[in-house]
Amino acid sequence: MEEAGGCARMGLRGVLLALALLLSVCVRASHGLTDSQDTSVLRALMDQWQNSPPTWGQSDDPCGVSPWDGVTCSNNRVISIKVSTMGIKGLLAADIGQLTELQSLDLSFNKDLGGVLTPTIGNLKQLATLILAGCSFHGNIPDELGSLPNLSYMALNSNQFSGKIPASLGNLSSLYWFDVADNQLTGPLPISSNGGMGLDKLTKTKHFHFNKNQLSGPIPDALFSPEMTLIHLLFDGNKFTGDIPDSLGFVSTLEVVRLDRNTLSGPVPANLNNLTKVNELNLANNQLNGPLPNLSGMTLLNYVDLSNNTFDPSPSPQWFWKLPQLSALIIQSGRLYGTVPMKLFSSPQLQQVILDGNAFNGTLDLGRSISSELSMVSFKDNDFSSVTVTSSYNGTLALAGNPVCDHLPNTAYCNVTQHAPSPAYTTSLVKCFSGACPPEQSMSPQSCGCAYPYQGVMYFRAPFFADVGNGTAFQELESKLWTKLELSPGSVALQDPFFNSDSYMQVQVKLFPSGGPYFNRTEVMRIGFDLSNQTFKPPKEFGPYYFIASPYPFPDRNGPASKSKGAIIGIAVGCGVLLIALVGAAVYAFMQRRRAQKATEELGGPFGTPSLKINLSEN
Ligand SMILES: *[C@@H]1O[C@H](CO)[C@@H](O)[C@H](O)[C@H]1NC(C)=O
Ligand SMILES: *[C@@H]1O[C@H](CO)[C@@H](O)[C@H](O)[C@H]1NC(C)=O
Ligand SMILES: *[C@@H]1O[C@H](CO)[C@@H](O)[C@H](O)[C@H]1NC(C)=O
Ligand SMILES: *[C@@H]1O[C@H](CO)[C@@H](O)[C@H](O)[C@H]1NC(C)=O
Ligand SMILES: *[C@@H]1O[C@H](CO)[C@@H](O)[C@H](O)[C@H]1NC(C)=O
Ligand SMILES: *[C@@H]1O[C@H](CO)[C@@H](O)[C@H](O)[C@H]1NC(C)=O
Ligand SMILES: *[C@@H]1O[C@H](CO)[C@@H](O)[C@H](O)[C@H]1NC(C)=O
Ligand SMILES: *[C@@H]1O[C@H](CO)[C@@H](O)[C@H](O)[C@H]1NC(C)=O
Ligand SMILES: *[C@@H]1O[C@H](CO)[C@@H](O)[C@H](O)[C@H]1NC(C)=O
Ligand SMILES: *[C@@H]1O[C@H](CO)[C@@H](O)[C@H](O)[C@H]1NC(C)=O
Ligand SMILES: *[C@@H]1O[C@H](CO)[C@@H](O)[C@H](O)[C@H]1NC(C)=O
Repeated sequence: MEEAGGCARMGLRGVLLALALLLSVCVRASHGLTDSQDTSVLRALMDQWQNSPPTWGQSDDPCGVSPWDGVTCSNNRVISIKVSTMGIKGLLAADIGQLTELQSLDLSFNKDLGGVLTPTIGNLKQLATLILAGCSFHGNIPDELGSLPNLSYMALNSNQFSGKIPASLGNLSSLYWFDVADNQLTGPLPISSNGGMGLDKLTKTKHFHFNKNQLSGPIPDALFSPEMTLIHLLFDGNKFTGDIPDSLGFVSTLEVVRLDRNTLSGPVPANLNNLTKVNELNLANNQLNGPLPNLSGMTLLNYVDLSNNTFDPSPSPQWFWKLPQLSALIIQSGRLYGTVPMKLFSSPQLQQVILDGNAFNGTLDLGRSISSELSMVSFKDNDFSSVTVTSSYNGTLALAGNPVCDHLPNTAYCNVTQHAPSPAYTTSLVKCFSGACPPEQSMSPQSCGCAYPYQGVMYFRAPFFADVGNGTAFQELESKLWTKLELSPGSVALQDPFFNSDSYMQVQVKLFPSGGPYFNRTEVMRIGFDLSNQTFKPPKEFGPYYFIASPYPFPDRNGPASKSKGAIIGIAVGCGVLLIALVGAAVYAFMQRRRAQKATEELGGPFGTPSLKINLSEN
């Protein structure tokens, strides 16, 4: 009988052990290794979304063996969510604030994802990258964004944010990239002089991209200081008034300065000439006055536009022909007069000279050593009475509105409507026998087959060149795209680059998959992220860019495949059946033990042995 009792005891222990093991396996399979709160947060996000990636919610472990696309974990905590271009619609739930280990959030190019940006975003103390570009967030940028000590990359551009730029953003001491372009922000630039926070504190920030908003008031003198390390200052397309502050000349790191299309007035500060690293300066379409600025110190200047201000009348300044890198010289209605120095046209990099609406007179002589790059010379509405051009110049020359055209009304030079110097570049498909592709597909220049490209528009905010027909430059861009984005050589098509009304060069980009007609979701998320966080860098002469993707036509977009849902149900049913069987076995064994106990009185407590502790908690 003792033997029987021992056997029953062993049997009960064994069964209970197996039960514990099974329970823990079942709990893992259903609850996963991922922190359960993080999992619930992801589920809460998903509840607010249509079209979340099909793998979302298919398993209970976002970071487990069948992970949720775009979610990355470390130590069972969610550290990054990258779901660029997934076609997600809906709102960003306030629960996001509970992902306290999140370092990177990329929701870019989901144009129907938006709503008001939840203030709980301020709880994400580890957040280093926040990318909401090309979504549809509206309302204020929450003050709480300023309490993210690790935030280094913030791209809120191309949404519908309104209200002021919060002063609290001056608290972002790690911020490198500050992009709020193309929103509806209003009000002044906050500075710290009144004791609080302000943008002047952002001495580590390299990029201020504030263009295309309705920001107003003066650009505060206190905004800039020699401690700043800005390289790109994009304030264009706002409603700034008052003077260009002297302090701008202290920020010696600047490479791109765009203040065009505001209502700035007063003279251009003389010390701007100290900014020796600038390669694009655009002050066009303001109400600046005083002398035409002396830019001879900006020896790396490529692109300058001073059009449509009210500078004092002046003859051509010396810097016109002394800047060795100059490729585009644009001063429409600049009150320039006198002769045009012939030396200008032999500037080695020169591509475009657009000096319409000035008062140049005498003879326009392009000289004998014209820059081989020169493709556009426009002096419409000046006062030239004659012109001398050698036949070696084969670019465009526009002289309509000059007295010389009174004598030569029928020459191409005098035609009011001029052709572009050369047709805009477009990736050639000549090697493919032409044939149309079905809707949403395009022909891959690599395979000549139809496929669903990942496409969007690349906006170059300050290219060094102005000639959109230059095949060399655009082919460099193509090969940089396929190399850096890990695509097959040749699987990039560019179409019709042009300068849009914001003076940005805009290019339609199509990227083609290599293994079939579609990119899969992982690839789309990766490409979207590489373009939204600037991992992809174009060739240097293209300058800074931003990209906005079109929605991607995934094959599974209407009704996600649910193969793994079946598997989960299988596991659950299996676990349930086993559980019932084991519980039955345990009850049976218990009864057996009871019987054995009745027969022999010598047993100690079989319960409470450490091996029987069943720990259901995962935390
Ligand atoms: C500034 O950031 C710190 C953390 O870096 C935070 O404690 C503080 O509340 C923030 N201040 C404001 C005004 O956001
Ligand atoms: C956040 O910043 C703190 C302090 O600067 C640093 O210790 C921590 O490693 C940072 N976290 C990440 C994810 O970079
Ligand atoms: C900057 O320019 C101003 C006036 O144009 C000049 O007085 C000053 O010395 C310059 N500063 C530097 C650092 O070159
Ligand atoms: C323009 O600035 C340069 C220094 O960069 C100076 O040498 C030159 O004299 C200035 N020209 C005029 C007309 O002031
Ligand atoms: C200058 O103003 C004219 C007339 O408004 C406009 O057509 C032209 O595009 C402007 N030039 C530049 C460079 O913006
Ligand atoms: C050009 O215009 C200036 C005044 O703006 C005048 O003094 C000069 O004589 C003119 N030159 C010619 C060749 O017409
Ligand atoms: C114009 O001339 C240059 C050389 O002077 C040549 O490289 C270029 O192809 C020509 N362009 C056209 C459109 O003829
Ligand atoms: C001016 O250019 C337009 C468009 O290229 C053309 O149709 C027209 O015939 C030209 N006129 C003259 C006088 O050359
Ligand atoms: C075209 O672009 C390339 C690369 O930027 C440059 O080296 C070349 O000089 C340009 N050519 C012309 C004709 O503009
Ligand atoms: C997506 O495509 C890439 C490249 O073709 C491939 O390596 C990867 O395994 C695919 N991922 C999935 C989930 O199919
Ligand atoms: C983009 O993301 C990668 C990977 O997270 C990171 O290493 C890189 O620094 C990021 N780029 C920028 C400009 O933040």
